[in-house]
Amino acid sequence: MTNKRILTGITTTGTPHLGNYVGAIRPAIEASRKGDAETFFFLADMHALIKCQEPEKVRQSSKEIAATWLALGLDTNTSTFYRQSDVPEITELCWVLNCMAAKGLMNRAHAYKAAVAQNLENGEDPDFAVTMGLYSYPVLMAADILMFNASHVPVGKDQIQHVEMARDIAGRFNHHFDSLFTLPEAVVEDSVAVLQGLDGRKMSKSYNNTIPLFLPEKQLKKHINKIKTNLLEPGEPKDPDDSTVFQIWKAFATPEQTEDMRKEFENGIAWGEAKKQLFELVNGEVSEARERYNALLEDVPAIEKVMKLGAEKARDYSAPLLAKVRKAVGIGGF
Ligand code: TRP
Repeated sequence: MTNKRILTGITTTGTPHLGNYVGAIRPAIEASRKGDAETFFFLADMHALIKCQEPEKVRQSSKEIAATWLALGLDTNTSTFYRQSDVPEITELCWVLNCMAAKGLMNRAHAYKAAVAQNLENGEDPDFAVTMGLYSYPVLMAADILMFNASHVPVGKDQIQHVEMARDIAGRFNHHFDSLFTLPEAVVEDSVAVLQGLDGRKMSKSYNNTIPLFLPEKQLKKHINKIKTNLLEPGEPKDPDDSTVFQIWKAFATPEQTEDMRKEFENGIAWGEAKKQLFELVNGEVSEARERYNALLEDVPAIEKVMKLGAEKARDYSAPLLAKVRKAVGIGGF
């Protein structure tokens, strides 16, 4: 075992969709099976509060995301899988890191900058509706990462800046007090697809164009039928590289199946037929997990038990490190 430690979090807003599965969950579970690194995966439920102030939605999403990872076969013996809010050391570390994070650095965080730009465009005060949660969200993310001395942080492109901020804050702490923190690196896998959604834009809950991962079969079929295509008739050659249907196909198919479908496109497969085959492929990959998912959601206490055990495992790491942090900065018992 090297000291490679992979950690990533999923904000608990919304229901997991095919894009989350292909882009984040599937590669994370694969990485956890490789056995060359320790893996930490968590529900970022405190991050959810930044975007969503509806308690039932946050709770429901947390359950669904937990059930998704478990249904897909995450091994919670070899991985540490926990809920952020069950690890109080993270929030305490967050305060200490707030005192190390330059305000100027936070001014440059793109989520905050985007909110300000939007306000200015609307003729509002620049900080209209900007909470401290949104403003300092990269500090909480730094606490998530540094609390477990993660070395590798798989994220989407939009999160690279935040991992770099965590690195910056860690460097400052180490320099000022004591070298307690690993400098984390963002890992962006180019080989992992960013799936397109129903309308051809990136699949994202903010575009409302997603295909939820564990839809009942009929609904899954309906959603796949809604994927936007052009007006080419059966028999007319179609460009696979310009097609969302093909793009999703590729994310689920073997290289051979991908080549076969490419030929089918060139031979003018009908959109209805291509979608039917896509449904069968996707359904084949997710149907067993979907049964486990539905069973888990019927037994929430079982999910809760797994989360509690995960929190205990996580705190085996976080509590001793936080004790060192407290000592290093001069707070707590004499
Ligand atoms: N901010 C991330 C997102 O929205 C989720 C997240 C929270 C995260 N804490 C993290 C990702 C720590 C990696 C590491 O996608």
